Amino acid sequence: MSQLKVSNDSWSSQTVFILAAVGSAVGLGNLWKFPYITGENGGGAFVLVYLACILVIGLPILMSEVALGRAGKANPIQAMSNLAKENGASKLWRLLGFNGVLAGALILSFYTVIAGWAVAYFMQSVRGDFSGITAEAAGVNFDELLANPLELLFWHTLVTLVTIVIVSKGVKGGIEKAINFMLPGLLIILLVLLGYAMTTGSFGDSVRFLFSPDFSKLTWESVLVAMGHAFFTLSIGLGTMMVYGSYLSKEFSIVKASFWIVIADTAVALLAGLVIFSIVFANGLEPGSGPGLLFQTLPVAFGHMWGGWFFGSLFFALVVMAALSSAISLIEPAVSWVNQQWGVERTQAAWLLGGIIWLIGVGTVLSFNEWKGLHFLGERTLFDSLDFITTNIMLPLGGLLMAVFIAWVMKPSTRADNLELSEGWMNLFVLNLRWGAPIAVMVVFASNLVSADRVGFMIAAILGIYAVYIWQVRRG
Ligand code: PHE
Repeated sequence: MSQLKVSNDSWSSQTVFILAAVGSAVGLGNLWKFPYITGENGGGAFVLVYLACILVIGLPILMSEVALGRAGKANPIQAMSNLAKENGASKLWRLLGFNGVLAGALILSFYTVIAGWAVAYFMQSVRGDFSGITAEAAGVNFDELLANPLELLFWHTLVTLVTIVIVSKGVKGGIEKAINFMLPGLLIILLVLLGYAMTTGSFGDSVRFLFSPDFSKLTWESVLVAMGHAFFTLSIGLGTMMVYGSYLSKEFSIVKASFWIVIADTAVALLAGLVIFSIVFANGLEPGSGPGLLFQTLPVAFGHMWGGWFFGSLFFALVVMAALSSAISLIEPAVSWVNQQWGVERTQAAWLLGGIIWLIGVGTVLSFNEWKGLHFLGERTLFDSLDFITTNIMLPLGGLLMAVFIAWVMKPSTRADNLELSEGWMNLFVLNLRWGAPIAVMVVFASNLVSADRVGFMIAAILGIYAVYIWQVRRG
């Protein structure tokens, strides 16, 4: 096996791995995206589907992805290549790595734009712009930001530059310190906001909205969105956790770490949702008002609470940090690939890839103003289309193939070496990854492609195709 290309980097401690992985998972997905897609998809039933996806699909695939990284010991493309070779499988498994590297770059291209909004809001908060602001004025303020391409471009550029600089310096230095400070800070501010929401907002309505499911509001499309978000929020399906796993030493428990990542990530999302919807209902705002939800609600809270100037500035600063620790993990699969595959120095790789990603991001900037009327997939703007293709298609597809690899292709001994589960749990885990998770993902895909009355037929067809495919894979 000496001809395999492997990564030489490693985490300085096991705790650092958990911190970095939590830093990647907790980000705009939790604070900005989860509340707004929950609002757009009717609340409780959507949350329930999302939680089910996290538990049944997200957690096992997270464990698998980290295990694939540690066993493959390289960037996603090379790791899959190494693993395919070791397990006597087709070279085409590299494509799984390509899917991830590409998805990471595309997500980052719009992620920096949204993170830029948070930087803009940090500045506004510091200037005291939110003091006494009404819900209506907060809405106008947000619309004005979106209507200004130059300002959006400025912040997008800034966030991209900072991401590039951090990544080019390697992971150890900056990130670890930022996360040590950021996660506890974020949690404290969320609790302060929770206190505000419970005393001043419509907290009861918020709890009801999030936790009492009304299934009549659920469509197959919202199930797809919930599933896609489970992947997005846990940073799985694209190789981020694979790269992070490739820097992990043998003694470490992937199972335990995965539980911590899932718990931290879910807690932050639910807290953010509770806070934001309390403010939404107290101010007669629309839960389904889209990507601006966080930016239209929180200024109102900060503008009216004691010490709001301080908490508001700190909050948006923490959002930016949460976004940065995710942003670096979005570009890391591509950087480590270019670095290990072509021998391009890390710094150069970061600048080169960052530049390309920045350019794609300009499209997202324009999709909120100049290109607002341009539609790509159906009614979607460029931003919506990029988000849809990556989150709802590329990540679940990547995750599905990871499940197939772990459960059908990998040698049981390698699997057992990397995932210290008791025999009973291992059997359940493998059973779920062989049938449960992949079929759930495919059914959700398929039901979005065909009209409702053909779903039964589609499920049968999928089962058939999947069985034939697996039979082929097993024969080698
Ligand atoms: N999990 C991050 C968030 O919730 C986004 C992300 C997705 C980061 C995929 C890395 C990989 O904001």
